[in-house]
Amino acid sequence: MSKLSHAQWSSKMTFILAAAGSAVGLGNIWRFSYMVGESGGAAFVLVYLACVALVGLPVLVSEWLIGRRGQKNPINTMAELARKGGHSQAWTLIGISGVVAAFLILSFYSVIGGWSLSYTLGSVTGAFSGKDADAIGGLFNGLLASPGKLLLWHTAFMLLVVFIVARGVTKGLEGAVRTMMPALFILMVVLVIYGMTTGHFGEAMSFMFNPDWSALSGGVVLAAMGQAFFTLSLGMGIMMAYGSYLGEDVDLISTARTVIILDTLVAILAGMAIFPIVFANGLSPGEGPGLIFVTLPLAFGNMTGGTILGLMFFVLLTFAALTSAISLLEPVVEFVEERTPLTRVPATLIAAVAVWALGIAALMSFNVWDAPVAFGLNVFDLLDTFTSKFLLPLTGLGAIVFAAWCLDRESVHRELSLGATGNALWHATSRYIAPIGVIFVFVGGLL
Ligand code: TRP
Repeated sequence: MSKLSHAQWSSKMTFILAAAGSAVGLGNIWRFSYMVGESGGAAFVLVYLACVALVGLPVLVSEWLIGRRGQKNPINTMAELARKGGHSQAWTLIGISGVVAAFLILSFYSVIGGWSLSYTLGSVTGAFSGKDADAIGGLFNGLLASPGKLLLWHTAFMLLVVFIVARGVTKGLEGAVRTMMPALFILMVVLVIYGMTTGHFGEAMSFMFNPDWSALSGGVVLAAMGQAFFTLSLGMGIMMAYGSYLGEDVDLISTARTVIILDTLVAILAGMAIFPIVFANGLSPGEGPGLIFVTLPLAFGNMTGGTILGLMFFVLLTFAALTSAISLLEPVVEFVEERTPLTRVPATLIAAVAVWALGIAALMSFNVWDAPVAFGLNVFDLLDTFTSKFLLPLTGLGAIVFAAWCLDRESVHRELSLGATGNALWHATSRYIAPIGVIFVFVGGLL
C-alpha cells in the first residue's frame, strides 16, 4: 500500500476519466482541426494516427511505468529512479523540461480557453444566430483585433483555473467530467450529423481521409507527431505524475489503449464536424488557429436548436479546456511549492501570474505585436511550435528511453504481463522503433 499522503485512484475507471480529462481538451478540437486544415488534410491525419499508435502508446505506457515506480512528482521520481539504478542524475532534466513545457503551454492555452469562454457568452446572447460566414468571420476578427477583450477573457480563464487549483478541488471535478465528457461526445456526433446535411460532407471526408501524399513534408510529419504528444498530454511528466497514483493491479497497456481511443475519437469527430462547414461556406481549411471559431458558430447560427446546442458546446469545450489547464498548472505549482517556502495558495498565485503575464505576450501576437521574435515566428506561434515540436517530443523520447533501457527489464515484463510475443514486441517498440522514429521525425522536420 502507498502512503496515506499519496492515495491511489479509487478505481481504474476513475483513473481513465482523469487521464482522459487531461488528454481531451482544446488540443482535440481547436488544435487538431486547425493543424489538419493547415497541413493539407488526410496525409497529416494518417501520419498523426500512426504517431499516436506507434509513439504515443509506448510513451504513454512508459510515463505511467516510471510514475508508478517513482511514486513522486516527475522531477523527484526521475532523480530517485536514476539514483537507484545507478544512472546519471541528468535524467531529472526530463522532469524539469516537463515543468517548463507545462508553463509555456498553459500561457497560450489560456488565451484560447478565453476565446472559448467568450464564445460561451456569445452563444447566450445569440450573437451568432442567422449570421453568414462573413459576419461570423467579422466577429472573430473583432475579438482578435482587440487586445483589451483578449486580455479580459484570458484573465477570466486563468482566474477559473487558479480558483480550482488553489482550493485543491481538482478531485471534485471528477464527478463533473463523468457527465460532461459523454455530453461533449454526443454533441460532436450531432455536429457531424449536421455536417452531413451541408451537402459537402463527402468533400470533407475526402479531405480528411483520402491522402494527397504530395502534401507531406518533414515539417508536416513533425507537426503530426507534435500533435500526437500534445493531445495525449505526453512529454511533460503529466502522465508520469498521474501514474504515481496508479495501483499495481491496473493493466497499463489496455488502460492506455482506452484513453488513446477516446482522445482520438474526439479529434476525428471534431474534424468531421468542422470541415463540411468549411467547404459548404467556401472558407479556407488553412484559416489557422481561428478555424473552429469561424466554422462552428455558423452551424449553430443556422440550425434548429442551434442557440442551445451552441451554448452547450462552448460550455463543454471550456470545461474540457479547464480540466486540461488544471493538469498543466499543477506541476508548475508543485514545483514552486517544493523549491520555495511558499504554501499552496501563494505558490498557485505566483505560478499563475507568471503564466498569465506570458499569455499577454501571446495574445498580443494577434494584434499589436504580430512581429516575428525568433525563427520568423511571433510569440504565440513560437510558444506553440517550440513546445509541441521540440520540448514534448524530446522529453517523451527521454521517458521512453529511460523506461526501455534503464528500468529493470524483467520487472517491466512482469508488470506489463504480456506473454512472450507481447514482451518481444514491447521490447522492440520501446527500445528501438519508437525512439528511432521520434529521432527520425525530429531530425527530418528540422532539416
Ligand atoms: N492534452 C491537452 C489537450 O489536448 C492539453 C494538455 C494538457 C497537455 N496537459 C498537457 C499537452 C500536457 C501537453 C502536455 O488539449
